[in-house]
Amino acid sequence: MIADVVLGLQHGDEAKGKVTHQLCAKGNYTHVIRFNGGCNAGHTIYHEGKKFVTHHIPAGVFYGIESIIGPGCVVDPEQFFKEIEELEQAGIPASTLVSIANNAHVITKNHKTEDSKDSRIGTTKRGNGPAYRDKYNRTGTRAKELECFEGYLIDIYEELYSKPDVEILFEGAQGFGLDIDHGDYPYVTSSHCTTAAALLNGVPPQAVRNVWGVAKIYETYVGAKRFQPDDNIFDTIQKVGEEFGATTGRVRQCNWMNLDTLKKAVRMNGVTDLILNKMDVLRSVGQWKVYNNDKLLEFKNEEDVKSWITSHMHMSSAQLSNIYFSGDKDRI
Ligand code: IMP
Ligand code: MG
Repeated sequence: MIADVVLGLQHGDEAKGKVTHQLCAKGNYTHVIRFNGGCNAGHTIYHEGKKFVTHHIPAGVFYGIESIIGPGCVVDPEQFFKEIEELEQAGIPASTLVSIANNAHVITKNHKTEDSKDSRIGTTKRGNGPAYRDKYNRTGTRAKELECFEGYLIDIYEELYSKPDVEILFEGAQGFGLDIDHGDYPYVTSSHCTTAAALLNGVPPQAVRNVWGVAKIYETYVGAKRFQPDDNIFDTIQKVGEEFGATTGRVRQCNWMNLDTLKKAVRMNGVTDLILNKMDVLRSVGQWKVYNNDKLLEFKNEEDVKSWITSHMHMSSAQLSNIYFSGDKDRI
């Protein structure tokens, strides 16, 4: 068994959807597995010129790859069927490719009602936190208990261990800065967003080949805490980068990239391939700044920032093999 992992290194919205979509196109994956979170995620994908925003359904469906909502996820039946229908209408045969691990947990109407009253964390109001709370409280509902999921359910052990040459692409949601343990608690999501979280779905550590860590050359965050410093430059970055939430439409707060937390995320997740997205945004804004050791460093131009980050990141982590700098429309 071989497994590659795609995960976010900041606060979600690092363009993991784009990376997963591109890896599906060029890899030999037999399965794409979403390993954490629920429909709080919003993965924006451009497929054959059309824009799609997926919340539950893994990007494998665009390339005819078996796509699984793993045991580490929570699933909202209403959102799940809505998404299947949208994809089918656009000609993507999602209903024949998607399955749900029978031990994934369910997001109920009550979970959503409860979450809709949150103002403390600034959640996406999709019922994510209450669903995970009930899972860990052992009062939750598993997917196998819902009649409407019949026909979509799989046993993850049977699915992954009864066939030869299984090659998995794990699709992460949210990011390291929102991780329940390593993020800025309580301003986090209720799941784990790490490489370890992918393994929790029933795959041995020896299977892991490449870990694709995805970040942006600047940072964004959506939620209740103050994140964006007082400076008009961040409003410009927000506009140029079109930084609006794919799930809630909220304006994303912006800041310069923090290399201290990026380094931590690269090390703790064993990132082998680092992607820094949205270079084109800072290129058109015309400023290149990065926090390092709590100090704001300014670079003269794109070449300088690239070479400095490259040498700094390679020095910080022995596992890191490749660093890609990518614009919105670039392929990796
Ligand atoms: P929850 O995951 O809906 O409970 O929200 C908890 C925090 O994570 C809030 O600050 C959300 O804005 C943030 N969050 C959850 N999912 C995403 C995502 O996919 N992208 C960006 N932020 C997210
Ligand atoms: Mg998103």
